[in-house]
Amino acid sequence: MKKYPLFIDGKWVDSVSGKTFESINPATLEVNGVIAEGDAADIDLAVKAARKAFELGPWASMTPSERARLLYRAAQKLWENVDYLAEVESNDNGLTISETKLIAIPAAIEVLEFYAGMVTKIQGDTLSSPADRFNYTLREPVGVVGAIVPWNFPIMLTMWKLAPALAAGNTIVIKPAEQTPISVLELARLLQEAGIPDGVINVVNGYGHTAGAALASHPDVDKIAFTGSTATGRLIMQAASKHLKPISLELGGKSPNIVFDDADLDAAIRGSLFGIYFAQGQVCAAGSRLFVQDTIYDRFVDEFARKAQSIRVGHPLDPATQMGPQVSEEQLQTIERYVEIGKQEGAELITGGKRNEQCGSGFYYTPTVFANVDNHMKIAKEEIFGPVVSIIRFKDEEDAVRKANDTIYGLASGLWTTNLARAHRVARKLKAGTVYVNTFSMLDSAAPFGGVKQSGFGRELGIEAMNMYTQTKHVWVNLNESAFDWYGV
Ligand code: NAI
Ligand code: MG
Repeated sequence: MKKYPLFIDGKWVDSVSGKTFESINPATLEVNGVIAEGDAADIDLAVKAARKAFELGPWASMTPSERARLLYRAAQKLWENVDYLAEVESNDNGLTISETKLIAIPAAIEVLEFYAGMVTKIQGDTLSSPADRFNYTLREPVGVVGAIVPWNFPIMLTMWKLAPALAAGNTIVIKPAEQTPISVLELARLLQEAGIPDGVINVVNGYGHTAGAALASHPDVDKIAFTGSTATGRLIMQAASKHLKPISLELGGKSPNIVFDDADLDAAIRGSLFGIYFAQGQVCAAGSRLFVQDTIYDRFVDEFARKAQSIRVGHPLDPATQMGPQVSEEQLQTIERYVEIGKQEGAELITGGKRNEQCGSGFYYTPTVFANVDNHMKIAKEEIFGPVVSIIRFKDEEDAVRKANDTIYGLASGLWTTNLARAHRVARKLKAGTVYVNTFSMLDSAAPFGGVKQSGFGRELGIEAMNMYTQTKHVWVNLNESAFDWYGV
């Protein structure tokens, strides 16, 4: 059985307590590995290593060009290992091999390349000041970053934090999700091989309420970047308040996806299928509330359900598989609970609504469609985080916007129309961090991503994310040697 230690200060170490836990392959229930279980003591060691690497040593004294070159070299190393990383990620969390190999891993590496390019473009301003002084700003790294990441896209969501953090010259302590502890360790190993100095990247596996909480409340961590549930986001915010630590939260969603009757229906159906079933529905931005105009509602539901039924559910490593298992028994039970609630609430279960036992002992579910859902039902209000879509009727543009915005969340949203004016009009009215027009769930390194309302705050990706990993220092230089003469000394 393969053992996976913690990665602290460039070394592979057991946890202080000596405790371990097992990581399960969600497709087969086989044990992928035995994982060193860190807690507060290990977090403390990792933070000390990150602090030392930030203040002293090769990382702190590297020129921007050298740091940029190193990050490009790291990206190159990852490109050479895409197949390997994709397989590790798929075994860890059940994403299909096409989702990891063709989408998640390449996207993560592109993020690293994007921020490698940013290293040499970090700059402050010269302020307009009178002749007797000189005022300018410096953009400096914040210091030690704590990253707490979830299990749905471990490598990609780690990279969203790691890449801008390193580009700005910070160091980092990463706490991966307990469901998917292996892929981030493999990532760290490759980055070390590429030459990232000791202590710059540290990975401490462990549980949220122990290792995660210790990181969020550590006095020597300068910033926390979190992706995960809204409930845990609240705890992170509380923990961070102890030392007034800045945080960014990328939380849940119940994203509306609106199909107008003037849309290209074929494209809308295909895009909306991707919007909900990509990654088994375990996507924070998933288009889980599908609003369809009443004039095309029945036709759309028929066709959508027919296509949902034809999705090939199976082993994640089979290239023909379109939907793999859910990450855990716990997530599967959450889905089952919501499907029961949906039926009781009077929503119409069109297809799915059950586990998929033909695929073996893994955590397999069936693509599920609820129609005639009311926007006030629980299945339309709460995040299910599985392959379950709620199709809701709307009358006109105003009705669609009102219903779409009637949610505590605001991560993503989408609309399908061939009317250009309508597309831009509705895009402005939707309360969400991202609006997709005639597509869904797309990501780009240059495009800022994050939420409004209870989907969190802060924007990852893009030039904008650099603001979260740097801070402004203002320098005031007096040019007038007799400035204080009036003091009479
Ligand atoms: P979670 O938010 O509890 O876990 C995410 C990360 O936070 C993990 O690394 C976990 O160990 C850590 N964590 C948990 N409690 C913590 C604490 N008190 N202090 C610091 N760190 C802590 O998510 P969980 O329980 O795995 O999934 C529950 C639901 O959350 C899902 O059904 C889904 O609705 C949502 N979720 C949303 C994600 C997103 O991408 N926005 C990702 C994962 C889950
Ligand atoms: Mg949790």
